[in-house]
Amino acid sequence: MKVFNLNLFRKCIIVLFLICFPVGTIYLINRAEAQEAEKDYTKSRSGKKDDIKSNYYGYCSPCHGDTGKGDGPLAETLEQGVEPRDHTSAEYFSQKTDEDIFNVIKFGGAKAGFSEAMPPFDGQLSDDEMHGLVKYIRILCKCKFKK
Ligand code: HEC
Repeated sequence: MKVFNLNLFRKCIIVLFLICFPVGTIYLINRAEAQEAEKDYTKSRSGKKDDIKSNYYGYCSPCHGDTGKGDGPLAETLEQGVEPRDHTSAEYFSQKTDEDIFNVIKFGGAKAGFSEAMPPFDGQLSDDEMHGLVKYIRILCKCKFKK
């Protein structure tokens, strides 16, 4: 009788383990995915430094790349011959005033005579946030406007 009980106990442990292990694993994976999904970069709404960076990652990196080199995942999907500007180019951006940059971000590429592949962010981002992004581009290019 004792032996039987022990066996039953073991079986229960094994069955429990077989159930808990996959269920637990699935739970942990789901939770990790949910946490990742909650990191919505587009939710930050101030001009603070961390938020500026999040805005850049959320709105600009898909085309301009995480480091601003113009190599984001969407870059390849654009019309042939159109490439997102390299934000790290000091040579290029020292020719541009902060206002030039701001206007392209706010009103889009087409309004400034560039490709319409550069979308306007008016309405999606506040002016403060867009001024923040201008500053961020200045950090990326390590440059200022030079006449
Ligand atoms: C859908 C892709 C895409 C997204 C998203 C995007 N850009 Fe662009 N951007 C472009 C392309 C393409 C160009 C180059 C246009 C051209 O060469 O005619 C460009 C050009 C620019 C320029 C250069 C303008 C100039 O004077 O030459 C700036 C500045 C810029 N983008 C800033 C941003 C910022 C800031 C964001 C995020 C808020 C952003 N872009 C999001 C595609 C994108």
